[in-house]
Amino acid sequence: MVLFVTSNTGKLSEAQAHLQPIEVEQLKLDLDEPRGSLEEIAMAKALQAYREVGKALFVEDSGFFIESLGGFPGAYSAHVLKHLSLSDVVALIDKKEKEGATRAAYFKAVVAYIDDSGIRLFKGRVDGFVAKDVRGEGGFGYDPIFIPKGYEETFAENEGLKRNMSHRYRALIALKSFMLKESPS
Ligand code: IMP
Repeated sequence: MVLFVTSNTGKLSEAQAHLQPIEVEQLKLDLDEPRGSLEEIAMAKALQAYREVGKALFVEDSGFFIESLGGFPGAYSAHVLKHLSLSDVVALIDKKEKEGATRAAYFKAVVAYIDDSGIRLFKGRVDGFVAKDVRGEGGFGYDPIFIPKGYEETFAENEGLKRNMSHRYRALIALKSFMLKESPS
């Protein structure tokens, strides 16, 4: 069993699916969110959580990076959706495209796992594009406006597609193989 410090139920259910047969238990803590890169934020949160509970745990920090906006919203992805709708984001990218920019974007996830032997980072990324409209009911966050490279549906329209290729899937699979190697039983 491993603790996942998160209050995001979308992230929790993905982690429970990807880490099987390792059991994942949610732990809700009110952690400080420092400014910085996903790596810096994940490390700081993992350390703070470990100081509070003293048990093996992981945190995950992720974001949506839009190329024509210099990687924005990135580490501020959750915050931005409190102020802008997904249609606002699409409208902004439509405007950028008219000025000659691409619609390229990617999701990135950084998992920080900590136990009594230290802290380790596992990362995942998935590249694609900002859709031309908001589509699909599944997923969460930016899923309705993200189309992975080589596909036509958004992550929210095709959760099966997301399941096996997402940034979080890639980071968690790396964590899982590390954990199974460390204690295979
Ligand atoms: P944080 O890692 O809790 O700071 O928040 C990450 C934010 O990035 C989420 O609240 C979403 O807005 C966005 N995000 C991260 N991963 C995903 C994903 O898999 N789908 C859609 N949006 C995501």
